[in-house]
Amino acid sequence: MIKKYVNAHIYGNSEADEILIENRQFKAVGNNLPEADEVIDLEGRLVLPPYVDPHLHLDYIFSGLGEGNANISGTLFEGIQRWSDNKKSLTEEMVRERALKGIQKELNHGVQFIRTHVDITDPNLTGMKALIKLREELKDIVTIQLVAFPQEGFFRYQGAEALMIKALEMGADVLGGIPHFEISYEHGVESLKRIVDLAIKYNVMIDIHCDENDDPNSRFLEVLNAFVMEKDYGKYTTASHTTSFGSVENSYANKMLGLFKESQINFISCPTENAHLQGRGDTYPKRRGLTRVKELLANGNNVAFAQDSIADYWYPLGNGNMMNILDNGIHLAHYTHIDEINKAFDLITYHGANIMRVNDAYGIEEGKPANFIVLDAKDPYEAIRERAEVLMSIRHGEYIFKREVRKNELAIDLLSESTK
Ligand code: FE2
Repeated sequence: MIKKYVNAHIYGNSEADEILIENRQFKAVGNNLPEADEVIDLEGRLVLPPYVDPHLHLDYIFSGLGEGNANISGTLFEGIQRWSDNKKSLTEEMVRERALKGIQKELNHGVQFIRTHVDITDPNLTGMKALIKLREELKDIVTIQLVAFPQEGFFRYQGAEALMIKALEMGADVLGGIPHFEISYEHGVESLKRIVDLAIKYNVMIDIHCDENDDPNSRFLEVLNAFVMEKDYGKYTTASHTTSFGSVENSYANKMLGLFKESQINFISCPTENAHLQGRGDTYPKRRGLTRVKELLANGNNVAFAQDSIADYWYPLGNGNMMNILDNGIHLAHYTHIDEINKAFDLITYHGANIMRVNDAYGIEEGKPANFIVLDAKDPYEAIRERAEVLMSIRHGEYIFKREVRKNELAIDLLSESTK
């Protein structure tokens, strides 16, 4: 069965307007392509590679719902404490149920690639066991990467290092860390050193929750960058959050930008989550809670946006809609020049794919898996301004979903014939 999509506006490719699919792959991308068994007219709509959510916590998704589960102070630290109390009664079934709900939400919005952190500060590794099964079960519809994440601290939680190694041996894809939560600066530095060494030994990527605070003197990003720069491991490493880098002095930031350029370390910013969590100690003016997204991009570093949380102890909202994340992110980061808006989809597509290092299987190009989404808009600018809906999500040439264009019954039509 050969399928042809015609009248497509392919993101980043002004030459081609047709896509041919055979045997789960893009057979051709171009113009006037050969005949097919089925032809689908996209009527000029925007076609993108699938959305990527490179930072999520599927093991505690929806944990913040229900009576008494709200995070009263709205801070990171209360979130960690509430999760620590709750997770003692966690079962694999509970994690599976929550994660499935979260993955379904993300799929419904056109996401097909997810990197999730999984708390390994649990003697039973309940979350990791449940998510390893799901990663395999769902691989045909969603690519999932698992980060072995010591939520309660590499040193602060006794035995975390051994649990991390166990998780790696079970099949974790990435090593995580949370140096700003360790009991001293020295403990944080040593945790990073060990995590980097372990990642290199096991040949896995690194993704650290790094300086997720408003402290302009938090310096773990500098330390992480130095360790991976020395080992030439920057492109395999991601610094997530780095919100304090939004509070540091310009002279220090400029020095660090030079070093990030050298290391080629990646960044993930979680705009809605961190706008919610950060600045809680500020009166006015209140900080936005983001890292220096615009400056890092201009510096040539890879930056992606992510959802991070859905209705958990850290954040009460979220629904896996990356368009919402993008819209918030570009506003908070002042990434709103027309030239920036026109390429902003990179932040929830290609840049996340770079972080997950799935580039070989990602993008609308001949020979790659036929994974893509279609938006109800004619170009990137219109899509972002209108927060366009995803009308189709296609994986290996088959629909994950398709939906009709929304139609409204207008009682008053200001654009009716007489007023046009
Ligand atoms: Fe996170």
